[in-house]
Amino acid sequence: MTIEHNVSLQPFNTFGLEAKAKSYCNITDKTVLSEVLKTNKNQPLFILGGGSNMLLTKDIETLVLHINLKGIEVVNESDNTVFVKAMAGENWHQFVLWCLEHNYGGIENLSLIPGNVGTSPIQNIGAYGVELKDVFESCEAINVNTQDIRTFTKEDCKFGYRESVFKQDLKGEYIITSVTFKLSKQNHQLHTDYGAIKQQLQISNIVKPTIKDVSNAVIAIRQSKLPDPKDIGNSGSFFKNPVITVEEFKELQTNFPDVPSYKVSDTLVKVPAGWLIEQAGFKGKRFNDYGVHQKQALVLVNYGNAKGSDIFELAQLIQKTIKRIFNISIETEVNII
Ligand code: EPU
Repeated sequence: MTIEHNVSLQPFNTFGLEAKAKSYCNITDKTVLSEVLKTNKNQPLFILGGGSNMLLTKDIETLVLHINLKGIEVVNESDNTVFVKAMAGENWHQFVLWCLEHNYGGIENLSLIPGNVGTSPIQNIGAYGVELKDVFESCEAINVNTQDIRTFTKEDCKFGYRESVFKQDLKGEYIITSVTFKLSKQNHQLHTDYGAIKQQLQISNIVKPTIKDVSNAVIAIRQSKLPDPKDIGNSGSFFKNPVITVEEFKELQTNFPDVPSYKVSDTLVKVPAGWLIEQAGFKGKRFNDYGVHQKQALVLVNYGNAKGSDIFELAQLIQKTIKRIFNISIETEVNII
């Protein structure tokens, strides 16, 4: 086990923000992970995955464990179904591409989401009508205090909209080491109802889409409005879409008749935060080296040398303004560190 000191985390977070880890350990082996946890028992730890869902506002004073466990394998299969286990450090999109190459269906709508496989269950990643929970079979995780290995079923994970037990009751207690997915080998169930996907397939004149076609459509949509972290630092949606009651929504509609919404249940409605932020005048606003993306108001960006604390202040200003104008509280999806 090698512990390095004063390591820059800039290459390891998709916002591209500079912050130092006082001590840092690159984890490429499960046995080493267990040893490090034993040696650093009762010490606070910082677990780093793909760095795609966090805003670093300061240096990290605790030991950073960078989970880079690799490997993808088929663990079980029948004529129609395949169970694929991917290690936590696999890049999410590379894993999607691997599945497409093997004609395994289920995660094509989740193409191009930044981050790693190991963090995908934590916030139940989702896009274009599909959420991780729809293909999740189980995950294996190590308890940071006891080093016991536990397998979590879908029920154990208590998935919700960008939520799971790993963000709630078990926060900080487990490190996910691998995830097993239940995917289809044939008769793939496509999810093409999302308006933008339909349109994109029409543009490409595709009537009977394959999973690869759906993935290509999603990639085209995402590339048209979401900035690539390689070019402009960002963490995808910075805020969650707020869920409000039908009564609150009706009141909102009286003042803002054009407000879009999605039905969540008979009593709850989801309102796109991007719309609220755009109406509040923030879309495309740039302050020095940071701002709100021009094509998608939900995304905050680092144009170069922004500080995490600047972006955090902007996020707070947006939250306050939305509360004042619409009387709606919007929560961050990104973890503020
Ligand atoms: N909208 C605006 N202005 C904007 C952005 C959005 O008015 O600048 C309104 C439009 O009415 C649009 C609606 O918001 O029709 C919805 O926009 P979009 O389809 O882009 O989806 P979203 O609600 O902004 C969510 C996820 C995305 C996911 C897309 C597609 C959250 C917080 N975000 O965004 O996830 O890709 O749906 O399914 O739920 C992510 O989590 O990082 C992420 C990108």
